[in-house]
Amino acid sequence: MVFNLSEQNSIANQFLAELRDRDIQRDRMRFRKNMERLGEIMAYEVSKKLQYGTRIVEGPLDKSRINVLKQEPLLVTILRAGLPYFQGFINVFDRADAAFVGAYRDEFAHELTVRTEYITTPALTGREVILVDPMLATGRSATDAIDLLIKKGGRPQHLHVVALVAAPEGIKQLAQHVNVPYSLWTCAIDESLNDKFYIVPGLGDAGDLSYGTK
Ligand code: URA
Repeated sequence: MVFNLSEQNSIANQFLAELRDRDIQRDRMRFRKNMERLGEIMAYEVSKKLQYGTRIVEGPLDKSRINVLKQEPLLVTILRAGLPYFQGFINVFDRADAAFVGAYRDEFAHELTVRTEYITTPALTGREVILVDPMLATGRSATDAIDLLIKKGGRPQHLHVVALVAAPEGIKQLAQHVNVPYSLWTCAIDESLNDKFYIVPGLGDAGDLSYGTK
């Protein structure tokens, strides 16, 4: 299942337009803030599909019955580009456990090679997991991270992969490689990848734009 927010008009498109605009991108703090704001919006959208149970809350005047999350989802992000976007998710799911995966493209390899060398995760078994990965380009870092997470933490009950911008190649990679129940969320599906595996039109290198060049 793919949920694409750009199919509706909302403030999310305005934040995404700023992220893509190379004049506005120069303001690094604004770039990170827009990532964070979109993280909050996407967290809210994903929250509609999580599991809820009824709680009785005792207020000063009377009791109320209200549906609240059965359990906070487990958040995962890929270092480093995912961090400002992840901040938005953890602002919303503010008691969530979090896992981190370090992944990078090996610039010296002849073909596209993603190295995942760092992972820390609690158990995933039976939990709802949200993988926060802003740029779904080839999808290789996402699928490598998912393999590693499952190997270390077990199989989640449901995985929400939440991109900001997705390329068709990344969407296909997920469809071919993810073998747990999953949904893909994105703010936009772009045209393609260029010969350096960047999303076109995309927005550039989200990690560099957030934190400076490597
Ligand atoms: N990572 C990015 O930051 N941008 C892309 O276009 C692809 C991967």
